[in-house]
Amino acid sequence: MSASLRTIARSVSKRSAFYSNAVRAYSTKEPTLKERFAELLPEKQAEVKELKAKYGKTVIGEVLLEQAYGGMRGIKGLVWEGSVLDPEEGIRFRGRTIPDIQKELPKAEGGNEPLPEALFWLLLTGEVPTVSQTKALSEELAARSKLPKHVEELIDRSPSHLHPMAQFSIAVTALESESQFAKAYAAGVNKKEYWKYTYEDSIELLAKLPTIAARIYRNLFHDGKVAAVDPSLDYGANFASMLGYGSNPEFVELMRLYLSIHSDHEGGNVSAHTTHLVGSALSSPFLSLAAGLNGLAGPLHGRANQEVLEWLVEMKKELKGDMSKENIEKYLWATLKAGRVVPGYGHAVLRKTDPRYTAQREFALKHMPDYDMFKLVSNIYEVAPKVLTEHGKTKNPWPNVDSHSGVLLQYYGMKEQSFYTVLFGVARAFGVLPQLIIDRGIGMAIERPKSFSTEKYKELVESLNK
Ligand SMILES: CC(C)(COP(=O)(O)OP(=O)(O)OC[C@H]1O[C@@H](n2cnc3c(N)ncnc32)[C@H](O)[C@@H]1OP(=O)(O)O)[C@@H](O)C(=O)NCCC(=O)NCCS
Repeated sequence: MSASLRTIARSVSKRSAFYSNAVRAYSTKEPTLKERFAELLPEKQAEVKELKAKYGKTVIGEVLLEQAYGGMRGIKGLVWEGSVLDPEEGIRFRGRTIPDIQKELPKAEGGNEPLPEALFWLLLTGEVPTVSQTKALSEELAARSKLPKHVEELIDRSPSHLHPMAQFSIAVTALESESQFAKAYAAGVNKKEYWKYTYEDSIELLAKLPTIAARIYRNLFHDGKVAAVDPSLDYGANFASMLGYGSNPEFVELMRLYLSIHSDHEGGNVSAHTTHLVGSALSSPFLSLAAGLNGLAGPLHGRANQEVLEWLVEMKKELKGDMSKENIEKYLWATLKAGRVVPGYGHAVLRKTDPRYTAQREFALKHMPDYDMFKLVSNIYEVAPKVLTEHGKTKNPWPNVDSHSGVLLQYYGMKEQSFYTVLFGVARAFGVLPQLIIDRGIGMAIERPKSFSTEKYKELVESLNK
């Protein structure tokens, strides 16, 4: 097919999808997410096949020796469909900014924030679901939320000094017993069918993550009782309720926003990359996500949201109530001079204020403008970029997502910061699982980049520099 014909075919298919959704919204015959993905997959497979055939030998970048020693920063070598991160502008989910998804995605009745289950649909298909499609997905997730007994017991038997992220990862790993993918693979399923079982496992996982997270939270910090799931509620509302905050509509809205903006940040970050890497060996979604969660638990990645809160509380104590900008500046320098990083600042890709920070700041300005911890975060925002620039190390002196999330949770009474990364983990599943399904759909290869020893690199660069 010629390029122009392809363009026409694509725009016709987009339009027909638009019309069919519009019509189906008034009928009961709307496709489910799985059906819609199945409809779209052949087009995606053909697109990838054609791209590889036509441009497979095109050079798309170069690699410097310093990148091999520098966390492979900037090396192009991953495929990620759900989102692309621009250093200046921030994240776009299937081409949409955070304000776009806040506007375009279906919301709960009376709510203003996007529903994470609708975002999952968007990340998987590139399309915005209708209200009734979203509702059907919410219902399916609620219906599949119950944990098997052995997973409940594992969580209940975890010692209280075991970090919530370790408990979370153990429970997700133990869900392997439920993997339809693992069972189908063992039964010799045709590789063309892999995505279907990966899809089922992914939905099962999304459905069960809040139940796991809430059980850990309620066991460690409350009475161990988790509220029952209400099938008429959306995902964020049920999660808030299981955690014990369902009666506060502002917290429910915060959960919807939190889960949406923490979901996806393209493919190279540790949790996304790890999930994809482990998944490329055809490990089930349960094992793949558990691996990603273990990466998210690191202080330079998801655990930074816990570190930020601890650092803020320490600062507040140290400054004895005088949180003037001069004192904050002194405290920032003390942190840096102690050889620590300023948590919540800097980023491997971003070079501006993270729009996920801005979205949370806007939420705070709307719901808690006078909260002292929010004011502290705002004052740090005015001082830290200058200090970090003077310090002269970080390439990005601006705040990231983790710099703001903790104070919002504190405001509503969720003060147990060691739990915060678990919330991030539930959200991250919404971003990494769609890619796992797509990977299986387009038959992505097992990941296996090349490594060299320092000795070998020496030989290589010396011969190249002759
Ligand atoms: C996110 C992060 C890991 C990115 O790392 P990176 O891509 O290597 O960042 P840079 O290239 O800007 O790092 C260059 C130097 O600046 C330092 N730097 C980066 N961010 C810094 C920060 N917030 N405070 C102090 N120093 C920082 C790095 O540690 C590095 O120092 P080194 O040369 O002594 O090793 C880093 O900015 C960081 O540690 N931030 C704090 C933790 C955090 O908020 N993580 C959540 C990210 S969403």
